[in-house]
Amino acid sequence: MVETGTGGAHDSANNTVTRNGNGSGGPRLIVLSNRAPVRVVRERGREHMEHTVGGVGSTFLRLLEDHGGVWIAWSGSRKAPDRLQLPAHDPRFSLVFAPLSDRDTANYYYGMCNRGLWPLMHYMIPNCHFSSEYWSQYQSVNRLFAELTAAEAQAGDLIWIQDFHLALVPQLLHEKRPELPIGIFWHVPFPPEQLFRIFPWRSELLYGMLGSDLIGFHTNTYVKHFLDCCERILGLHVDRQAGEVMVEHRRVRVGAFPLGIPADHFATLAASERVHERADRIRRALRSQIVVLGVDRLDYTKGILERLAGFERFLENNPEYHRRVALVLIAVPSRTKLADYATLKRQLDEQVGRVVGRFSSEGWVPIRYLYTQFNLEELIAYYQAADIALLTPLRDGMNLVAKEFVAAHLGDDAVLILSEFAGAAEELKEALLVNPYDIDALARSLRQAIEMDPGEKATRLRAMRAKINLNNLQHWSESFLNTLSGVSSSRIPQLSGAAAR
Ligand code: UDP
Ligand code: G6P
Repeated sequence: MVETGTGGAHDSANNTVTRNGNGSGGPRLIVLSNRAPVRVVRERGREHMEHTVGGVGSTFLRLLEDHGGVWIAWSGSRKAPDRLQLPAHDPRFSLVFAPLSDRDTANYYYGMCNRGLWPLMHYMIPNCHFSSEYWSQYQSVNRLFAELTAAEAQAGDLIWIQDFHLALVPQLLHEKRPELPIGIFWHVPFPPEQLFRIFPWRSELLYGMLGSDLIGFHTNTYVKHFLDCCERILGLHVDRQAGEVMVEHRRVRVGAFPLGIPADHFATLAASERVHERADRIRRALRSQIVVLGVDRLDYTKGILERLAGFERFLENNPEYHRRVALVLIAVPSRTKLADYATLKRQLDEQVGRVVGRFSSEGWVPIRYLYTQFNLEELIAYYQAADIALLTPLRDGMNLVAKEFVAAHLGDDAVLILSEFAGAAEELKEALLVNPYDIDALARSLRQAIEMDPGEKATRLRAMRAKINLNNLQHWSESFLNTLSGVSSSRIPQLSGAAAR
């Protein structure tokens, strides 16, 4: 449960937010995201707050506690208050909820974001559904976020927008408050220009993003795709060396900032007695010599059916491993109201049932399928209980689970099998990289992982851990914010010069 307070530091008369930060000396932050870090949960007639899933939420909580400022997000429910002060016992920043109507939720969130942009960004054209109703609601929700931000922002604040839900906010906000430094980070992939071209509002989306001073992606590949689109679709001048796009008189910086995990926090939890005990319990309950783990939101981009097919092929080809191996599939419920997600759930249920029925024998069930969400401590225990992670996204912006799995294995005794189509594969080259569409290759990689000698496992894991420790979450946020401060301060003199004229 999360401590919250509604009292507070907001002075509605002059529409300012008292600085809540701990005096870190840095600028205040205004963070925008569709998903809020907490949600209102009603249980037995009483409401309380819970953290939402994912590591990025806690990052910004920490950043905002340090810098002070405001986080603007959708509450995910209509019961939420307009504003909270967090943490309640020692308020340091405000969480402002953007009030979205049911129509907004249907057309903006489920429609444009999750039936349009999500599959488009993941190169999954057959899953794309575009409609002008979705688009007009997307525009109006982006306008709402821009208005809320313009009302909250004070001189000197840094504006950091998260993800594809809010692509138009940079331009809308820049028109209202040209003096504000604006950065957007794109947490999903960015498709090649030939795929992006199919989007009916392609120019509007690109110009929306280009209202920023800084645009961040996870990898150089996504940067390249975005720059190609600016050059070939919008006809803008692009400096690939400098990573810059010229938009009228402005330079927009575009760069790769691979998202990291809070590696120290993971190492502390991974070393804790409680996590070890929980991992032992999981391991004992599985009663299996070799444990293979998959963890994802239940999403068609994650290649969960392909993973299952690869595991089935492995069992077909390697009868000597029957009764010795178990696959644990953790599938977190996600976007369940959408047909594509409900269909995937049905297919997964059927496939799991079929493989279990085909291979189980007395005392051995080859798959444990958990359709639920775990908290971080429980999840780390599952990571530790596993010998092998089999992560097979068909396309993924980064895939934090891959990094978390490595960070949880302090004993250097595990193997990461990772899709070459995850952003993380550009950094974690010591993983066993696989093409998830190649079912035979998946089956072979499982055997290779099981039979890998301990020395090789340790060498690979240590090399990956060193990168994860270096390019951790703090490094990510500092590099993004320092770059944003740098690029925006270099344009302020031009701006004030222009204003003076
Ligand atoms: N996660 C979690 N509980 C679960 C499963 C996953 O908290 O039961 C978290 C996990 O720790 C990770 C995030 O969800 O930080 C998933 O991030 P990833 O980049 O792998 O995929 P995404 O869901 O963002 O597409
Ligand atoms: C991905 C997106 C995030 C999103 C998360 C969960 O990681 O990049 O922006 O918050 O999935 O999806 P949801 O639709 O539940 O917010």
